[in-house]
Amino acid sequence: MKTKAILLALSLISLGANAQGLKDAVGKYFLIGAAINVNQSNGNDKPAADVIKKHFNSIVAENCMKGECIQPEEGKFFWKDADNLVKFGVDNHMTIIGHCLVWHSQAPHWMFTDKNGKYVTRDELIKRMTTHIRTLVSHYKGRVHGWDVVNEAFNDDGTMRQSLYYKIIGPDFIEIAFKEAHKADPKAELYYNDYSMAKQGKRDSVCALVKRLKAHGCRIDAVGMQSHNGMDYPDLKEYEKSIDAFAACGVKVMMTELDINVLPSPEHFGGANVSDRFAYNKSMNPYSNGLPDSVAQKVTQRYLDFFKIYYRHRSQISRVTLWGVSDRGSWLNNWPIPGRTNYPLLFDRQYQAKPVVKDIIDLFNK
Ligand code: G3I
Repeated sequence: MKTKAILLALSLISLGANAQGLKDAVGKYFLIGAAINVNQSNGNDKPAADVIKKHFNSIVAENCMKGECIQPEEGKFFWKDADNLVKFGVDNHMTIIGHCLVWHSQAPHWMFTDKNGKYVTRDELIKRMTTHIRTLVSHYKGRVHGWDVVNEAFNDDGTMRQSLYYKIIGPDFIEIAFKEAHKADPKAELYYNDYSMAKQGKRDSVCALVKRLKAHGCRIDAVGMQSHNGMDYPDLKEYEKSIDAFAACGVKVMMTELDINVLPSPEHFGGANVSDRFAYNKSMNPYSNGLPDSVAQKVTQRYLDFFKIYYRHRSQISRVTLWGVSDRGSWLNNWPIPGRTNYPLLFDRQYQAKPVVKDIIDLFNK
């Protein structure tokens, strides 16, 4: 009997069952999270759920809290998927992040037009936007720890994106959104979130926004650098500069959507603008039968480069969230070119931790 128990213990150890998760090491300094989908929170994808529970202490909804999913028709809220996700987080003692209250993309189709198809007035859009914010934030009050209040309001050069929120309401739609979110749950943290944040134009405009919001008495706790990174972008020095710049404005910095695109990019392409699309071409999908070791090693190194930065800046950072769990479900298999085989995350298609996971754990245990 005793021998049997020893053998079982030994085999568990060799399977890595006792190995630390990312949250045990990285979690000593800041939250480490993942964006999760509905199948992962409702129990239909157990292997993914096991990885999430072992490695992450924070979750964010990849899609089900977005405007078009949660309020598909005006006044009709579809709570089921997001409620399941929040329950999964609460049951597993995770810090839950809400994504996202105001975003030009994936906004419900009815948000900007009246029944005749004409754009609504400024007052009407403010009413619709604030009702959406108030309803979501109140529904999850006390359970969602912090919200991406406004997502992607700037172009890469720092000019304001000409979204319908901007065109109809004006630049103060951002301030109105932050004030409304704060009213609905005064204890919730509030964030501004965007991609290409290592670019100087965006960095400067986001810093100016943070200062303006603070000067006008708005709560803003952190800036989210999405971090949809590639093998040769962003420049690491510029990326660090942005962390320092945002922290210097008196907010925490979060890496909110981290992944590393290992596939070739179409010419003149960058960022994470979901509406950018290019046609499939076999030469743009070079690793459909597996990632060569030499490339895998470069991806490992690139991940370590980023996590070394996070370690160095740990006092300024409050969360790092991966945009997905395993390569299998990453949005980067279908964007900006559909039908590719990408390898952007920390867990492979069989939900096995890639070697870099242990390297990251060692780095944060040192
Ligand atoms: O759910 C439908 C399904 O019913 C349908 O059969 C299928 C056919 O296309 O589409 C499914 O919806 C897709 C959804 O993801 C769920 O998989 C949408 O078409 C697709 O557009 C949507 O893409 C999401 C994208 O945001 C747009 O909302 C990605 O999963 C998600 O990773 C991505 O996340 C964004 C962040 O929210 C903001 N920052 C950039 C980031 C990456 O684009």
